[in-house]
Amino acid sequence: AGLNTVAKSKGKLYFGSATDNGEITDAPYKAILSDTKEFGQITPGNSMKWDATEPQRGTFTFTNGDVIANLAAANGQLLRGHTCVWHSQLPSWVSAGNFSATELTSIIETHCGTVVGHYKGKACKWRLYSYHAWDVVNEAFNEDGTFRSSVFYTTLGQDYIATAFRAARAADPDTKLYINDYNIDGLGAKSTAVVNLVKQLKQDGVPIDGIGIQGHLIVGTVPSTIQANIEQFAALGVEVAITELDIRLTLPVTPEKLAQQKTDYLNVIKACNAVPKCIGVTIWDYTDKYSWVPSVFTGQGAALPWDENLIKKPAYDGIVDGF
Ligand code: XIL
Repeated sequence: AGLNTVAKSKGKLYFGSATDNGEITDAPYKAILSDTKEFGQITPGNSMKWDATEPQRGTFTFTNGDVIANLAAANGQLLRGHTCVWHSQLPSWVSAGNFSATELTSIIETHCGTVVGHYKGKACKWRLYSYHAWDVVNEAFNEDGTFRSSVFYTTLGQDYIATAFRAARAADPDTKLYINDYNIDGLGAKSTAVVNLVKQLKQDGVPIDGIGIQGHLIVGTVPSTIQANIEQFAALGVEVAITELDIRLTLPVTPEKLAQQKTDYLNVIKACNAVPKCIGVTIWDYTDKYSWVPSVFTGQGAALPWDENLIKKPAYDGIVDGF
């Protein structure tokens, strides 16, 4: 039936995939990506990040991001914008950090306001509703739940987070504003830190709509507390999405590892499926051909439900069975 079809039949808003500009020139790849039975949502893997959208101060380039947004709209897919404020993939004029607090605040406001504003209402105009979401702040925390030191945190403390959310809301009142992070799949110090931050933001009247669980996981080590964690997030009155799911293994691939991977995918999907406020799942690209994993985690790979020849793996059935 297709992953998005199955997800929607269980009341989810979408099942989606990340993609990237270089990949969509691959016609067989693009055909599967564009099949709304499989994917009802796409996320640009790189082309809406700060280095791509504001490489020089005040000079905005939306060419590559627009290609992805237009593909989503043409396919009738939802779009998740990714990402306004992140410590990584920053242009050097930002990361150099030679700014006063006032100046950096204004830089964040301009950046988030302009980028979110550019994509306001662009996805899915054909629908009766215009739903899309933004990862406004990405990876704000260390593993122990303290704030990650970045040019933003060092200059502004945690206030940079409220600044980014407020600017995004001012630019687009309709998009869902998310905080997004990795290793917040199960219960633990980092997930608790997200809970505490979201409580604080809500108390302070800062607009926040969702928590994104990236879901970069490892075969055989998927936490058993994912559902409990999604429930504690949902109890804050926000929606939850799994935004970058992939479950990597140590190469080479064996039938046993693929079977474990199938179970692992099933368990993650089952956890989201059990919580109505978990509104959708996005995999971080759909084929091992274009996964980011091998380039970053030495000796690991095969993290996605389609193999490098665009053939479905056991993980695919695990996803279907999980819904
Ligand atoms: C990754 C991309 O997939 C790569 O192409 C790029 O080289 C590095 O970034 N968490 C995130 C994503 O929020 O933006 C990252 O994407 C993967 C980890």
